[in-house]
Amino acid sequence: MLLLEHISTTAVVDHLRVKISPAVVADRLLASIACWRKARKQSFRFPRKKTLGKRKDYTKDYPISISMASLTGKIVLITGSSIGIGRESAFLFSREGCTLILTYCKDEKEAADAAEKCRTLGAPEAFVVRLDVTDDENILGAVKKISEKFDKIDILVNNAGVILWKPFKEQTFDEIQSQCRVNYEGLVKFTLACLPLVKETIINIASGAGKEAYPKLTTYCGTKFAVRGFTQALAQELKDIMVYCVNPRVTATRMTGFEGIHPSKVAEVIVNTAKGAYVLESGDDVDVWDYFDDAD
Ligand SMILES: NC(=O)c1ccc[n+]([C@@H]2O[C@H](COP(=O)([O-])OP(=O)(O)OC[C@H]3O[C@@H](n4cnc5c(N)ncnc54)[C@H](OP(=O)(O)O)[C@@H]3O)[C@@H](O)[C@H]2O)c1
Repeated sequence: MLLLEHISTTAVVDHLRVKISPAVVADRLLASIACWRKARKQSFRFPRKKTLGKRKDYTKDYPISISMASLTGKIVLITGSSIGIGRESAFLFSREGCTLILTYCKDEKEAADAAEKCRTLGAPEAFVVRLDVTDDENILGAVKKISEKFDKIDILVNNAGVILWKPFKEQTFDEIQSQCRVNYEGLVKFTLACLPLVKETIINIASGAGKEAYPKLTTYCGTKFAVRGFTQALAQELKDIMVYCVNPRVTATRMTGFEGIHPSKVAEVIVNTAKGAYVLESGDDVDVWDYFDDAD
């Protein structure tokens, strides 16, 4: 609007000053508008919605090592790390020399294989636990097993999730319940159960669909918006633990029929968040698309 006002004012002032014909003024106006539209279109390249805020990615300006804390020796628990984003994150944390606690729900073999690879990548230890975040007893049992083996968790990544692509009218109660319980309720309960052990950072994996709503993902969107709300509120309560939300967009995992960016890209953002590579306040969103284009 301001730009348009500026264009018209300049053109009109010129017209009065040098007495150019109205046709020339109109011409110039049209050319300026076309130029402005082109610039606007270019600046609207992906990502469409840059997150507002004070965040600055120092890794883009400075060598990574200057701003990052070492993760070597940290104990990292990642829920849903048998496959997908969780598994890739486990691999990347392993390269950093972290001890990994991996959880699976159904894919036991995949979790065992992932743990084996974590060890070969540099994790001093990779411990596998079965976790079903929809089952209260199982949550408490899993945390008990973890606390018997480790006296702390430095970094908790709440990653486990499910999705359903279906018009809302066709979703059954069971399908709605499963998404709400895994993506939101389970994440909240598991966080509470782990809290006495957590020392440094909690990273909740929400989604681009938790910032912008999409049809056929109604329930899923609701759960992911909720995860962001939980993260922001928890950050205000916890004074000694940093709490963040990492929001991926379409990522090539089982969830998307393996369409989208490679999950290792999302893992990179998760690990960088844990390292303190981005300047963030507790409660902040870390939008993966701020760091990688769809095309990357
Ligand atoms: N892929 C995307 O495009 C995308 C985009 C935005 C956000 N996200 C989010 O990123 C996270 C990881 O997704 P992904 O794409 O890596 O999905 P994925 O490949 O399907 O992996 C999901 C993980 O969650 C675990 N899980 C499922 N139900 C569980 C339950 N009841 N209790 C505990 N764990 C359970 C699975 O364990 P088992 O396989 O062992 O059963 C698996 O390890 C999710 O929170 C998802 O919403 C994904």
